[in-house]
Amino acid sequence: MDGNGRWAKARWLPRAAGHRAGVSVLTPLLEAAGEAGVEALTLYAFSTENWGRPETEVDSLMTLFLETAKGKVPELNERGARLRFLGRRGHLPEAVRTAMGEAEELTRENDRLHVYIALNYGGRAEIVDAARRMMEDGLSPEEVDEATFASYLYAPEVPEVDLVIRTSGELRISNFLLWQIAYAEFYVTETLWPDFSPEEFRRAIDSYAARSRRRGGG
Ligand code: FPP
Repeated sequence: MDGNGRWAKARWLPRAAGHRAGVSVLTPLLEAAGEAGVEALTLYAFSTENWGRPETEVDSLMTLFLETAKGKVPELNERGARLRFLGRRGHLPEAVRTAMGEAEELTRENDRLHVYIALNYGGRAEIVDAARRMMEDGLSPEEVDEATFASYLYAPEVPEVDLVIRTSGELRISNFLLWQIAYAEFYVTETLWPDFSPEEFRRAIDSYAARSRRRGGG
């Protein structure tokens, strides 16, 4: 969800206002995803690198996550979305962890749209954590293949990613779902996240649908 800071700067607003504007995009976007028949969607909300931002910005983001959980989770639940979080939970404030657990519990039976929120998430950290847990479980080298490895990721049921949408024109992966994006297609737009509309989301899906995916198969 890139570009919140630039969106705010262009309006002489604090960065927190940009993140707040970014939240307002979520409901229409998830509604559009459900209508388009998308089964799973992951939002990158906070990376393991984002702790390096000024303390005031990190604090305002944590407050925003809590407010967003309070405001949006009941609504998402009514719309049939199942919520799950990806990332290292240990480092997050306790109130945020509690809200995450409650959101997962409330929505666990839903099946219309699977929404994953990457929070304190890093793709490399996820791979390292999976390797550690395999070692803790005493797996032998012969037992470790791609399927076993995938089963140790944060949420093993996360489907392989079909399409990565990157806003604000960045041409980087930025440590996002490294394992799961092996064959993903990309859609990059100059639009800043707070301006990302359901119409543009549908354009991204149309662009994806028009491509031929060979996955190395020629
Ligand atoms: C990146 O923009 C955005 C973030 C680091 C935060 C995104 C979080 C939200 C919009 C809140 C959503 C909440 C939930 C729970 C889904 P940036 O600050 O890097 O912008 P810039 O690239 O213009 O500086």
